[in-house]
Amino acid sequence: MPKVTFLNLDKTVEFEHGKLPYAEHGKPESILDVALNFGIQLEHACGGNCACTTCHVIVKQGDNSLSEMDDDEQDRVDMAAGVTVHSRLGCQAVVQGDIAIEIPDWNRNYVSEGGGSMNLGSAIPPPKTAAASAPQQSGPAPAE
Ligand code: FES
Repeated sequence: MPKVTFLNLDKTVEFEHGKLPYAEHGKPESILDVALNFGIQLEHACGGNCACTTCHVIVKQGDNSLSEMDDDEQDRVDMAAGVTVHSRLGCQAVVQGDIAIEIPDWNRNYVSEGGGSMNLGSAIPPPKTAAASAPQQSGPAPAE
């Protein structure tokens, strides 16, 4: 049974694969999904759709016990404040073994105040699509 330790909340939870009632926020058994199932209000302004960075967490132990980061998560997490080489998006990183994470300060303050998703409205860019991430040509044609 994987254990998830939220270091700065001094809280460890454990769950059995396939037994969490999915809360429809982020990928099933993601860090966000686990947190919400145990009453930890990790911020998730976009609803777990890889379209913000409010679920940013820093993995202190167990990088290899999480699903691999896909391109969408990589592109998005690079925009997070205070990003590190151990940064993940809580809604995208699926827990496969024991991990310990830290929630960045600004988000932790939010957690301690009881959670509830902030409505950032149009401040959240839409998720990337394949067409949107294709190289674009713009500007004048090169002079010959
Ligand atoms: Fe928005 Fe994870 S909740 S990217």
